[in-house]
Amino acid sequence: MVAVAILAAGRGTRMKSVLPKVLHSLGGRSLIERILLTALEIDPKRYLAIVGYQGEKVKAALEHIPDLEFVEQSEQLGTGHAVQQLLPHLEGFPGDLLVLNGDVPLLRSQTLKHLIETHQQHRNAVTLLTAHVPNPQGYGRVFCDGQNLIKQIVEDRDCNAAQKQNHRINAGIYCFNWPLLAKVLPQLQANNDQKEYYLTDACNLMEPVMAVDVEDYEEILGINDRKQLATAYEILQERVKDKWMAAGVTIIDPKSVTIDDTVLLEPDIIIEPQTHLRGQTVIKSGSRIGPGSSIENSQIGENVTVLYSVISDSAVQSGSRIGPYAHLRGHVEVGNGCRIGNFVELKNTVLGDRTNVAHLSYLGDTTAGERVNIGAGTITANYDGVNKHPTKIGDRTKTGSNSVLVAPVTLGSDVTVAAGSTVTEDVPDDSLVIARATQVVKPGWRLKTNGDSPVT
Ligand code: UD1
Ligand code: CA
Repeated sequence: MVAVAILAAGRGTRMKSVLPKVLHSLGGRSLIERILLTALEIDPKRYLAIVGYQGEKVKAALEHIPDLEFVEQSEQLGTGHAVQQLLPHLEGFPGDLLVLNGDVPLLRSQTLKHLIETHQQHRNAVTLLTAHVPNPQGYGRVFCDGQNLIKQIVEDRDCNAAQKQNHRINAGIYCFNWPLLAKVLPQLQANNDQKEYYLTDACNLMEPVMAVDVEDYEEILGINDRKQLATAYEILQERVKDKWMAAGVTIIDPKSVTIDDTVLLEPDIIIEPQTHLRGQTVIKSGSRIGPGSSIENSQIGENVTVLYSVISDSAVQSGSRIGPYAHLRGHVEVGNGCRIGNFVELKNTVLGDRTNVAHLSYLGDTTAGERVNIGAGTITANYDGVNKHPTKIGDRTKTGSNSVLVAPVTLGSDVTVAAGSTVTEDVPDDSLVIARATQVVKPGWRLKTNGDSPVT
C-alpha cells in the first residue's frame, strides 16, 4: 500500500517570481500538476500535496484533481519539516510513503514503479532515486557502499571540496517505510548551513537506505531557476516531438516547432516550420499546419491547411483552408470545405460548409449558412460601444466588397448585398440590397480654375 506526498510549500526563491515555483508552467501544465499526474499513474491509496507559500493559489490550481488531500506547512523550514506535517494526517498508515519534490516535472511513472518494487523487494527502510549527472551543482550528493546502500547524503552547500567531486546526486524522490519514518521525523535537527530541517537527514537516521539509479538522468532534473525551466522545456519538447514522429507525423524543422504534450495528433499530418500547437488541440489526419502558425485549444479536421495563421478556442472542419494571415479566436466554427483567407479575423462565429471569407474581413458574433460568399472587406459592426450584437446570414448569400453589416441584423438566404452597402435593416430571402448613396455623374462638368493648370 502506497501513499504519495508532493512537497510544494516552498517559494522557489531562485525563480525570482511572485508565482510559487510549482505553479510555473512547463509546456501547458504546471510543474506540480505534471508530477501529480505522473504519481497518479501508480494508483496510490492516498495522495497529499504539502502547500505553504501562496497555498491558496496552489490549491486552486489543483482543485480539479479528485481526492487530493492538502496539508499545510505554514512556515517553510525545510523538506524534513514539510514531511513532519504529514504526521497527524498519516497516523497509523501502515504502508510506504512515496515523497516527491514538486519541482521534478519530467519524472516517468515507470521509474516510480521500479523504485517502489526495489524498495519492497529489499524491505528497505528508505529507497531513493539517484543519478550520475554531468553537472551536480546544487544537488545533494549521495555516498554509497558497493551494494548501493547509502552511507550519507550531504547537501551541495554543506559539502566540502572533496565531497563536491561526487557526481551521484539525490533526485528528491524517495520511497519510505512510513511507520519507520514517522519514528525518526521528530528527531530532525536544523544544524546545517541553511538552518533547515532536511528530509535527507531522516535518511541518514534510517537503515537500510538504498539508492536506485535512474537510467535517464534528464528525468530527474529539478527546476530551481528559469534556466532549468528552459532546459526542462527542451527535454519535454524532444520527448513530445519524437513521440509524434514515431506515430507518423512529419515535422519539417523540429527545432522551430513547439508542441504541448496535451496536444493530440493523427498520422500523416505535416507540421511546417515555426508552428506552435498548444493546450487541448486535436488535429486530424492529412492536415498541413504552418509555416508560421499557432493553434491553441482548437479542433482541426482532416485535410485542413493552416498557413501563417493564429487559431484559438475554435474548430475547423475537414478540407478547409485557413490563411495566409487569418485569425480565428474565441468560439469560431468553420464548416467543411471553407476558405478563410488573407487578413480575415473571425470571432465567435459559425460558418456553414463551403462558405468563403477570402479577404480583409472581420466577422464577429455571426452565424452564416452554407455556400455563403463574404466579399472582400466585409465587416460586421457587432459592437455599439456597450453591447455586442449578432449578425445572421442565410445560405448562398453574397456580400459585395466593402459592405458593413450593422448588427443586430439578419440577411436571408440567396441575398446579394451590393458593394459598399451599409446594411442596417433585415433583408428577406432572394433579394438584392443596395444601401449606399446613389452615384451622381454630371456630364461636361469641370473644375473652374483661374486659367492656370492645376498643380499636380
Ligand atoms: C532537495 C534535496 C537535495 C536534492 C534536490 C533534488 C533536501 C534537503 N535536499 O534540494 O538533496 O538533490 O532536492 O531536486 O531535501 N519544500 C517544501 N517546504 C519547505 C522547503 C521545500 O515544501 O520548507 C518543497 C519545495 O516546494 C520543492 C521541494 O520541497 O518542491 C524541494 O525543495 P528545494 O528547496 O527545491 O530543495 P533543493 O535545495 O533543490
Ligand atoms: Ca529543488
